[in-house]
Amino acid sequence: MLQKPRGTRDFLPDEMDQRREVEGIMRRIARTWGYREVCTPEFEELELFTIRSGEGIIQEMYVFEDKGGRKLALRPEITAPVLRMYVNEGKTLPKPLRWFYFADCFRYERPQKGRYRQFWQFGIELIGADSALAEAEVILLARDLLAASGISFSIHVGHLSLMRSLLAGLDPDDQKKIRMFLDKKDTGGLAAYLLSQGRDDLSARLTALAECRSLDDIFALTGDLPDRHRIEELFSILDSSGLEYTLNPGIARGLDYYTGMVFEIFAENLGAENQVLGGGTYRLAHLFGGEETPSCGFAVGFDRVMVARGEQPPVPGIVVGVAFTPGGRDWALTVAAAFREAGIRTELSLSGKSIGNQLSQIARSADFALIIGDRERDQRQVTVKNLRTGGQDVLALAEAIQEVSGSEPR
Ligand code: HAM
Repeated sequence: MLQKPRGTRDFLPDEMDQRREVEGIMRRIARTWGYREVCTPEFEELELFTIRSGEGIIQEMYVFEDKGGRKLALRPEITAPVLRMYVNEGKTLPKPLRWFYFADCFRYERPQKGRYRQFWQFGIELIGADSALAEAEVILLARDLLAASGISFSIHVGHLSLMRSLLAGLDPDDQKKIRMFLDKKDTGGLAAYLLSQGRDDLSARLTALAECRSLDDIFALTGDLPDRHRIEELFSILDSSGLEYTLNPGIARGLDYYTGMVFEIFAENLGAENQVLGGGTYRLAHLFGGEETPSCGFAVGFDRVMVARGEQPPVPGIVVGVAFTPGGRDWALTVAAAFREAGIRTELSLSGKSIGNQLSQIARSADFALIIGDRERDQRQVTVKNLRTGGQDVLALAEAIQEVSGSEPR
């Protein structure tokens, strides 16, 4: 028997109903904040992803050559594609641009619970706004999105300037390695690396910084910073918005394009892979041939949100099954069409067996059965059987539709 590729999943209808429901909630919230949906290709030129992160990232991607010899990659994330699109198509649009996307990404990772090779992100990018208020908007929208999707979570907000001030003077590659250790919370690895570089003095200061929970403590460690005022303003907006969050200068983020505020959100009831959202302030447009454009955004790990929601009752909706005699067939088709027109999910019996047999099959999944025999055909009526109560009425078509659509979904 053939199987799906490692790290991918199939979704049956019940699960897809749940996913579409949550996706709908997220779209609705994003729209109420003024964000509009965009879509980019599933694959891109490989260079789009290596230009900032270097060739190392190739190991974590699905990379291939097409028949024309072009080096392409399945997108591992959607921020770089969206910024490429902005440079190609959106430069002249009035800024700031508020865009969102919901799409799948591909990463060549070791699969485990909550970590897949194909996964979905719901993300937003706020392009062309450079202020504490813009950063606060992105964080508050993230909070609203996740709250509406029905999970419990905690928000951690940090700023890369804080860590960078301690790393000033180190070469960029060293800084990058150190951020990788911090991102993976690998304190042992970090200490060993710093020791090997003769910079074990940094170990204690970095650990102390990561543990700071107030701006005063942080600035005592880092000394005064050029963007101190901006950082203070951001946290003051978050405080006056009543956001519950943890100030966490230890957040390093795995991706290379962040420049300032960074934030991560963790779901409370997931195991090791509990980060359901990551984002921050970044600059990418200038790397793709555009002007320096301050931007800010985040992506929700949609699959992890679905796991964090746990088992949910089925998405409600009324189901109607239509049983009919051979002579009633054409009227049954007309009746089914009218029910569908009214937005009711209507399934025609396809078995051609007796009415009794059709009814027992319909009763397995439907809330109502419509029974159409020769009498109903002649009178242009419908027998509506409520499968929950067993009650039954012969009604005109319009009344039948009203009866069913007025009932409470199970
Ligand atoms: P990221 O942190 O790499 O950020 O991914 C965002 C979220 O996607 C993660 O927090 C996680 O929930 C989910 N995720 C990542 N890898 C996997 C996986 N293998 N399986 C399941 N879920 C996964 C970004 O991608 C940035 N583009 C976010 C951003 C947008 N920054 C600015 N704008």
